Amino acid sequence: MSMKAWTIAASISVIAITGLGITANHAAASAFTTASDAVEYRQKAFSLIRENFAYMSGMVRGERDYDADAFKQRAQALYHLSYIPFEAFSGAGENVTANSDALPVIWENWSDFEAKRDTFQAAVKELVNAAASENMREIRPKFMDTARGCQQCHQGYRAD
Ligand code: HEC
Repeated sequence: MSMKAWTIAASISVIAITGLGITANHAAASAFTTASDAVEYRQKAFSLIRENFAYMSGMVRGERDYDADAFKQRAQALYHLSYIPFEAFSGAGENVTANSDALPVIWENWSDFEAKRDTFQAAVKELVNAAASENMREIRPKFMDTARGCQQCHQGYRAD
């Protein structure tokens, strides 16, 4: 979209929203208004990631009965979630470490951070495919690859 069309579209949406009595001075800036919104968003997303990951982990470790449909559903949820937190490291969330465990090196090594994100997302995709086999022998190594994806990013980029 051209800058002008974008401005017009933004103005229209501000008018529309103002008409509803909601102030929308930030509407066009980014998906996040403030640094603290961005941090909260990415932390909540990671906590849903952990929730789904822990559920599957129970089945992979044999601590929870394997249920193929439930496992597939959780793998699919993790796949969608694997895209969610990373949006909140740019825009209003860029270089924000207040009330956050994100380390400043994320933005110094941005392309490496993105590469770790991509590796993680690719591993989750393979986990989804393996889940369809309903065979734990195929699932387990893909689950371990995914776990490594979490670990390899946390190692350099998250404070413990
Ligand atoms: C490419 C990097 C990256 C990958 C991959 C990644 N994380 Fe994280 N994770 C982070 C960063 C950075 C934070 C700190 C976010 C903050 O506090 O602003 C974090 C925070 C978290 C948190 C704490 C959330 C909270 O409530 O504060 C959990 C739990 C978590 N990650 C789990 C996982 C799990 C489980 C995986 C893999 C299935 C994973 N992460 C994959 C970078 C990553």
